Amino acid sequence: MTGRRERVAGQSIRGSRIAAAIGVGILVGCIFAFLFPNGFLGSDPPQEHQSAKSAVQVSSSPCESPERVKMLKSELISLSEKNAELKKQVRDLNMKLQLAEQGKDQAQKQFLVLGNQHKAGTFGTVKALRTNPTVVPDESVNPRLAKILEKVAVEKELIVALANSNVREMLEVWFGSIQKVGIPNYLVVALDDETESFCKSKGVPVYRRDRDEGVDSVGRSGGNHAVSGLKFRILREFLQLGYSILLSDVDIVYLQNPFNHLYRDSDVESMTDGHNNMTAYGYNDVFDEPKMGWARYAHTIRIWVYNSGFFYIRPTIPSIELLDRVADRLSRQPNSWDQAVFNEELFFPSHPGYDGLHASKRTMDYYLFMNSKVLFKTVRKAANLSKLKPVIIHVNYHPDKLPRMKAIVECYVNGNQDALKAFPDGSEW
Ligand SMILES: *[C@@H]1O[C@H](CO)[C@@H](O)[C@H](O)[C@H]1NC(C)=O
Ligand SMILES: *[C@@H]1O[C@H](CO)[C@@H](O)[C@H](O)[C@H]1NC(C)=O
Repeated sequence: MTGRRERVAGQSIRGSRIAAAIGVGILVGCIFAFLFPNGFLGSDPPQEHQSAKSAVQVSSSPCESPERVKMLKSELISLSEKNAELKKQVRDLNMKLQLAEQGKDQAQKQFLVLGNQHKAGTFGTVKALRTNPTVVPDESVNPRLAKILEKVAVEKELIVALANSNVREMLEVWFGSIQKVGIPNYLVVALDDETESFCKSKGVPVYRRDRDEGVDSVGRSGGNHAVSGLKFRILREFLQLGYSILLSDVDIVYLQNPFNHLYRDSDVESMTDGHNNMTAYGYNDVFDEPKMGWARYAHTIRIWVYNSGFFYIRPTIPSIELLDRVADRLSRQPNSWDQAVFNEELFFPSHPGYDGLHASKRTMDYYLFMNSKVLFKTVRKAANLSKLKPVIIHVNYHPDKLPRMKAIVECYVNGNQDALKAFPDGSEW
């Protein structure tokens, strides 16, 4: 504090000296102004000064203006970016609106959401893509089939079964049950002339492969497994035409309309060969190796296979890749079982030297889409399941297919409670 005060006192003395010097300066200046009114350094100093100043201005404006231009440019760019962004948002909103109006194509909506990069949401709110976008329909693949599907399909969906004359009686029970439920969108792919004319005579929508369509020699003469390989190739065309297919074997009885019981969120939605929650939906199967002592238990994951005789498949790239992979393997390994191949392609992960398929999949409810083991081993005996009304029953576990199909119709359609009783749980070899 004291130091500061001293300095202030010193400044005030110095200040008064400065004031005196300024006063003298002004006086001398006035005298010079009186004696030399044009200045004492020559005629044009003001002009020189002017030009020097303007030179500074000129040189300063090219120096200043690139910066301003740059700034303006970047402002312009950011504005037009904002504008484009807004336009894009409006476009996206319009598309979303259209899709919402069109209704139910979750896949496309999900695609729109995922089209842009996003930050991950907060814990528990993130969802990966499982409903893949559908392919653009390509009519040129098979214009004749495209015409048929236009007529038969409902909401771009239909049941499809392949049949030759070897399965004629089962086929009759099959479409009889479909007609009884009142399902309009189903189609038989006839692999021979007899089947075609049989379907026509019963008012059943039928599509006969042309003889020149290549893959049919198998269809006419082939055994079960050969027909299975053919199935995947023919299905591909349906998907390419943009249709979702509920592929159906003919040893199946329909009790309700399956299209009222689908989720439609996955590439493949399939019935299971499983018979309870664990086997149908997957479980932790512990493998025990006592020799390993402390580490004797190895955990495995296990699931009963999907039934390749009844699945719903959406027209997406992963779906088509699946069909191609299965068809390709069946043609290269003729003794392999199509259902095993179907499951391996669907479930095995990528590993060294192998790229796994990344298709999304959903297991159908095994009480609604029921296999014949569940029916004959469990359901027909359980009082608490007697009110259960399956959507379909697939006689896949029993070789005496036709009598069991007829009994199922007798029980579930005609209400004869005893119709299933005569059959053993399994087959008696
Ligand atoms: C089996 O799974 C279904 C569907 O996920 C569930 O509702 C039911 O409670 C499960 N039953 C048992 C016995 O765990
Ligand atoms: C039906 O009852 C059996 C026992 O008789 C039981 O094990 C089973 O979990 C029950 N199922 C359902 C769906 O309630």
